[in-house]
Amino acid sequence: MTGDPTSLADSGVAAQRSRLRVREMQLSEVGIRIDYFHDASDDHLFILGVDRALLPSRAAWREFYEADYARPVRDRENYSLAWEFDDQIVGFSSADQITFGEQAFMHQHILDTSHRRSGMGTQFLRKSAAIYFQVLKLRRLYCQPNAFNIAPNRTLQSAGFCYVFTQQMVPSPINFPQPVTRWMMDGRQPDTA
Ligand SMILES: CC(C)(COP(=O)(O)OP(=O)(O)OC[C@H]1O[C@@H](n2cnc3c(N)ncnc32)[C@H](O)[C@@H]1OP(=O)(O)O)[C@@H](O)C(=O)NCCC(=O)NCCS
Repeated sequence: MTGDPTSLADSGVAAQRSRLRVREMQLSEVGIRIDYFHDASDDHLFILGVDRALLPSRAAWREFYEADYARPVRDRENYSLAWEFDDQIVGFSSADQITFGEQAFMHQHILDTSHRRSGMGTQFLRKSAAIYFQVLKLRRLYCQPNAFNIAPNRTLQSAGFCYVFTQQMVPSPINFPQPVTRWMMDGRQPDTA
């Protein structure tokens, strides 16, 4: 990894912003997301509300992506973004449960703990939301982190999402039942700053 996130915090938001880029994740890069979950510790998966036993095998997950990337964007089950800092991928976001032209649910992860909590997540989230609204022609964008996972809940609020509710549910097929906080961004107010 290049760059020092600590110095980022000192160098000001504008300078930091210029070192961040969000772009579509290429099919050749989906292993980053697959490895992130498969290589995660039990503690990290627990914070995420993910049940390791429910993860698709690496091969099955890759096959899913190969089929999905072959579809036009409007028919995709998943649309993933790579988060770059100084031209290195430091994280990713993905949208699923996509109803093209209507709504989708997003997820976000910074790979290395040293890059977390330095202000990058908030900016990546804003840029990602703007891309999802544009590419998927959304009216609403949701995110449903585990209610006990402080980082995304704080970051979503900082990025301009509005609180909707907290409810017990299984938010996606790789999750165990958990209290989830639903956040929403309305298409009339994506904050791309
Ligand atoms: C969620 C994530 C992408 C946020 O990115 P980040 O760079 O850490 O977030 P930021 O530095 O922009 O922080 C945004 C806000 O959240 C707060 N925050 C971030 N991590 C926190 C933590 N662990 N505990 C308490 N507050 C935290 C920051 O203090 C900041 O608050 P403020 O806006 O009131 O000043 C990142 O922490 C991450 O990848 N976490 C692990 C994966 C994960 O939990 N993903 C969410 C799945 S839904």
